[in-house]
Amino acid sequence: MNNKPVAAITGASRGIGRAVAISLASEGFDIAAISRSVDSEGIGILRTAVEKMGREFLPVGLDISCTGCQVEVVRDILDRYGRIDILVNNAGVAPLQRNDLLEMTEESYDRVMNINLKGPVFFAQKIAKEMIWLRQQITGYNPIIIFITSVSSTRSSINRAEYCLSKAGLTMASTVFADRLANDDIKVFEVRPGIIQTDMTVKQKDKYNKLICEGLIPEKRWGFPEDIGKAVASLARGDWDFSTGMVFEISGGLNIQKL
Ligand SMILES: NC(=O)c1ccc[n+]([C@@H]2O[C@H](COP(=O)([O-])OP(=O)(O)OC[C@H]3O[C@@H](n4cnc5c(N)ncnc54)[C@H](OP(=O)(O)O)[C@@H]3O)[C@@H](O)[C@H]2O)c1
Repeated sequence: MNNKPVAAITGASRGIGRAVAISLASEGFDIAAISRSVDSEGIGILRTAVEKMGREFLPVGLDISCTGCQVEVVRDILDRYGRIDILVNNAGVAPLQRNDLLEMTEESYDRVMNINLKGPVFFAQKIAKEMIWLRQQITGYNPIIIFITSVSSTRSSINRAEYCLSKAGLTMASTVFADRLANDDIKVFEVRPGIIQTDMTVKQKDKYNKLICEGLIPEKRWGFPEDIGKAVASLARGDWDFSTGMVFEISGGLNIQKL
């Protein structure tokens, strides 16, 4: 059994997930980095960063939408480390094409919902059960589950409705897991990013640059993956000990409703 805490992060190969993994490694967590491929360039970059800090690194391959594959992945992480202290459910996708709501296809809806909502919900379910068991085995064990949602959980975009629907569902997932797991002393938080500079937003770069110039974001800048990494590290450190089921929006003030 590892005597150091362990963080499992989905979608760790790039973007927000990689920044979260680096941030948690710097807080003293060994890392289980989950993404579709274990030998991508992104996983290599992450391994180097994590090992440089003297932490253990385990790359794990999983398509999060394959709920039947998840048991084996949880087993692999527990076989290597013997514990999972924090799960960051981060993996997610945008629709392959932005289409008006009235043209949204079932195929795109199913793809986005399976990756962004169904996969993370059943992964959290499996890991929560292990956390309940681990709580009896490890002294000083403080398990946390984090869902990375989006400002699209509550804001409408009519040309990527399936994304908004999936993130709205994930917001409720965070609430119901927090409610169910409070008795087991497992904290659950939602971290809700705004517009963050990653591969996901690269195609919309010009559009967002213009909107930011026009004042869409009170803090007048793009968010960076490291902004989300810092927020997750604060939750992982236990700075928010007397709370669960909270939403932490990291969006430069997009949350402010202006007149
Ligand atoms: N960027 C933003 O502005 C923004 C805003 C709000 C919320 N978010 C959310 O933040 C999370 C991370 O987004 P990002 O911007 O960092 O995106 P990104 O740079 O496109 O990275 C997405 C990550 O998810 C992984 N992934 C995609 N499909 C997967 C699948 N089926 N199974 C397992 N892993 C999969 C990717 O792994 P591979 O390398 O294997 O493809 C990659 O590691 C997402 O949930 C996204 O919805 C992003």
